[in-house]
Amino acid sequence: GPPAVIAPSILSADFAKLGAACSDTIDNNADWLHIDIMDGHFVPNMTFGAPVVTKIRPHVQRPSMARGKGTFDCHMMIAEPKKWVKDFQKAGCDLYCFHYEAALTSTAAEDPAESSEAKTSPKEMIKYVHENRMLAGIAIKPETPVDVLWEILENPEKEEVPDMVLVMTVHPGFGGQKFMASELPKVKALRERYPDLYIEVDGGLSEATIEQAAEAGANVIVAGSAVFGAKDPAGVIKVLRESVEK
Ligand code: DX5
Ligand code: ZN
Repeated sequence: GPPAVIAPSILSADFAKLGAACSDTIDNNADWLHIDIMDGHFVPNMTFGAPVVTKIRPHVQRPSMARGKGTFDCHMMIAEPKKWVKDFQKAGCDLYCFHYEAALTSTAAEDPAESSEAKTSPKEMIKYVHENRMLAGIAIKPETPVDVLWEILENPEKEEVPDMVLVMTVHPGFGGQKFMASELPKVKALRERYPDLYIEVDGGLSEATIEQAAEAGANVIVAGSAVFGAKDPAGVIKVLRESVEK
């Protein structure tokens, strides 16, 4: 199967010292940085946009290969994912992970009479992200059944297949929430069908919950409060990795 990837979420870092927090996290043996982008519309919270990503990029060496160490994994909890693809590519994003729900219902598309902008389907989004030289991820909220992904994953046209699926294990919007084990059957179903797929879990992952997530088949592990709230972040990263590698 795919390798263990530990992707600390900088949402729980000290935003006043973000550059140092990012480089320290990579020094603590993290693989990727998980960067949560929230627009106060798709989710009931706001973080930051491409200008901040641009400023932290020089603090972390770009990955030398696809999905290598230093990958910027941008989790786009935003209403109009297509609109920000080019800005994030320029800012140094390596993996653009948009939400399935947002691809279907971008604000511009809610009332077709109000806008000439066509809906962007998930497949179109994946293609567009690839055209912009980034890896493409597709995320699903707890409310969204995993079944919506089968058609997208089975697309024979390679440029429309995602490089990663993100199964949310909390309702997106905030760090430090309780892990929802109810989402793990989605991970299991994905892993059964796709032994090599990168499957990311995000929300409530810690030393206490990692075993279940790894057992279900997740290989990309996001952890915010568990890493940044720890006295020994390197130790937590190590435990997470060992659970996936077991
Ligand atoms: C939640 C974000 C997560 C968040 C996870 O909406 O997508 O990435 O930072 O935080 P923890 O690990 O504290 O649940
Ligand atoms: Zn996230």
